[in-house]
Amino acid sequence: MQIASKILSLHALNFCYFMTVFFNKTELRQYLDQLKSKTKSLGFVPTMGALHQGHASLIEKGLEQNEYVVVSIFVNPTQFDNQEDLVKYPRTLDTDVELLTSISEDNIVVYAPTVDDIYGDHVVSTAFSYDGLEHEMEGRFRDGHFDGVGTIVKRLFEIVQPHNAYFGEKDFQQLMIIKKLAEKYDIPVNVIGCKIHRASDGLAMSSRNTRLKPEFRKAAPFIYKTLKAAKEKFGTKSANKITEWVTRQFENHDLLELEYFIIADVKTLKTVKRKSNKKKYRAFIAVYADDIRLIDNIALN
Ligand code: PAJ
Repeated sequence: MQIASKILSLHALNFCYFMTVFFNKTELRQYLDQLKSKTKSLGFVPTMGALHQGHASLIEKGLEQNEYVVVSIFVNPTQFDNQEDLVKYPRTLDTDVELLTSISEDNIVVYAPTVDDIYGDHVVSTAFSYDGLEHEMEGRFRDGHFDGVGTIVKRLFEIVQPHNAYFGEKDFQQLMIIKKLAEKYDIPVNVIGCKIHRASDGLAMSSRNTRLKPEFRKAAPFIYKTLKAAKEKFGTKSANKITEWVTRQFENHDLLELEYFIIADVKTLKTVKRKSNKKKYRAFIAVYADDIRLIDNIALN
């Protein structure tokens, strides 16, 4: 019965792979309840699709540590502060399923809900407080973004009920915020951070990279190159001096426009004023390449 409905769903979208794809939370929950009896550990990787090797690295880690991994594919409308970005966000479910099939045919469960399945008639986010983490960096530049992220991730955690959930350090602030969310709401899930996966030229992989025009794609590795140079300077120069240097590099760049560069304490995400040997720091950057916004970060010590 369950299998039949799965195959039917796949046929409706012309998939020729056998992969468990659910479009609705009730069917997914029924299936996961059946799995529960024979599964000790369920992993979860939430995504917005347009999957690439960065996502794949999270899923592979999930498969190493769990018997099954649920991958959600949902472009969450409430976390977009820019409507054009939401409309243009790549939606590639068929190739996503192809990539997932190449990782594992048997141990991945895909949940690709509709907006209605998640939000019903109320496509709005709840307001969250993450003890101040939400006011820094992305929170400052993307109005309401982390309310949207908290709303969807909390809802997905409630639906999937995973033991372990995997998030990329690519979105380091998001990772810290999800850890805080789980802690504050007593959600019984281990939130696990995964390293940033990069293209061979250093550009952090992102679903938005596919939208870069060739000249901007060619220019974009400059972001990571600058982060690495900032890391080298961190041993001898002040955070202020490094920030000024990075700002100058982008002022002199024809194609890339710096939105922010910040050196912050990894725990509070607050901009560092004076370095301390006892604390860990990271540099965070947001850059516009044409109208595409790219973010990246690097550990400094
Ligand atoms: P999305 O941008 O699709 O990313 C899904 C997960 O993949 C996130 O945890 C993100 O940090 C991770 N990721 C993306 N690119 C990566 C890279 N190059 N290396 C390592 N990890 C990478 O982040 C979201 O979706 C959404 O905000 C979501 C959490 C799904 C809520 O809607």
